[in-house]
Amino acid sequence: MEDRNRQVLLKRRPTGVPTTADFEIADGPVPDPREGEVLVRGIYLSLDPYMRGRISAARSYAKPVDVGAVMEGRVVGQVARSRDPGFREGDYAFGGYGWQLYSAVPATGLLKLDPAEAPLSTALGVLGMPGLTAHVGLSEIGRPQHGETVVVSAASGAVGAVVGQLAKRAGARAVGIAGGADKCRFVESELGFDSCIDHRSADLGGALDRACPNGIDVYWENVGGAVQRAVFPRLNDFGRMVMCGMVSEYNDVEPRPGPNLMTAVRKRLKIQGFIVSDQWQRFGEYRAMAAPLLRSGELKYREDIVEGLDRAPEAFIGLLHGRNFGKLLVKLGDDPTRSA
Ligand SMILES: NC(=O)c1ccc[n+]([C@@H]2O[C@H](COP(=O)([O-])OP(=O)(O)OC[C@H]3O[C@@H](n4cnc5c(N)ncnc54)[C@H](OP(=O)(O)O)[C@@H]3O)[C@@H](O)[C@H]2O)c1
Repeated sequence: MEDRNRQVLLKRRPTGVPTTADFEIADGPVPDPREGEVLVRGIYLSLDPYMRGRISAARSYAKPVDVGAVMEGRVVGQVARSRDPGFREGDYAFGGYGWQLYSAVPATGLLKLDPAEAPLSTALGVLGMPGLTAHVGLSEIGRPQHGETVVVSAASGAVGAVVGQLAKRAGARAVGIAGGADKCRFVESELGFDSCIDHRSADLGGALDRACPNGIDVYWENVGGAVQRAVFPRLNDFGRMVMCGMVSEYNDVEPRPGPNLMTAVRKRLKIQGFIVSDQWQRFGEYRAMAAPLLRSGELKYREDIVEGLDRAPEAFIGLLHGRNFGKLLVKLGDDPTRSA
């Protein structure tokens, strides 16, 4: 065990596009767990688009990170010391906290992980919050029917990859939208979507018309911006728009004008937003459904693992520009289950 804890702190609130100067790397003491707490040595840290909201002062559904505080984030790690009877040194767990190497967290907030069930890192991606997001949004809002067309933006990413695969399992056609030829190839050949469109292509509308000859029944919104403008008028009557996120607009200083919503009346659309944390109670149900599919190879996933905590700010900024390819993780320390 290291004798110092390394942390990434929020140095100042960015306006517009964040830079590495908005973050500060600091060394401090390893925290002491109190009664009922566990000291977690981080192995993987999840970097997610929602963190852009947490470093802004704008009103949102969750409290922002204070300036000078450690950056918020979910961690998978190994128990280094336990002051709770439910955990022993060496156990693996999901629920460590923040952009740091060590955290002392209440045992009640930890989920014990069995590395024989699935690779540890998947608890942050395909079997974790992003996977649950896909499951909740599709089952409650998108509700794809056999033969319908589901369009998914950021299709190669953590959430989008699961959305398309679950839509296929429901018997729908899945059409992805992703940034660049490599991502599109992966979405079609590895994830099994019916087709994938590069959102940088000159004629996005024309490409959508060709890929969706029967129009679009469900649009899974992950990015907003130009992609949303191209998809919205192509929604069919009674189409559903699952408002999951709009990552291409997270650095905007002023909100952009939205689409003309008369289309929603004319086409009887359902446009509904959701936040996965309202649905944590469905986590067990999702893992019970998805973990066997993962083990059998029916549910595919891709991870983009960056080495070392110090690279977290740069990797997070890259996520907001589409530089990640798959679920973005930071390797904080040794994963004994992978090197064994
Ligand atoms: N509502 C909820 O509870 C909830 C929960 C989790 C995530 N989300 C949202 O779901 C979305 C996807 O999250 P994720 O964790 O799965 O991330 P991700 O897709 O793994 O990574 C983000 C992706 O967004 C795309 N992107 C980034 N900047 C873009 C831009 N300027 N224009 C177009 N595309 C851009 C990039 O993909 P391409 O290169 O393919 O464009 C990038 O790889 C985000 O909007 C996130 O906020 C919502």
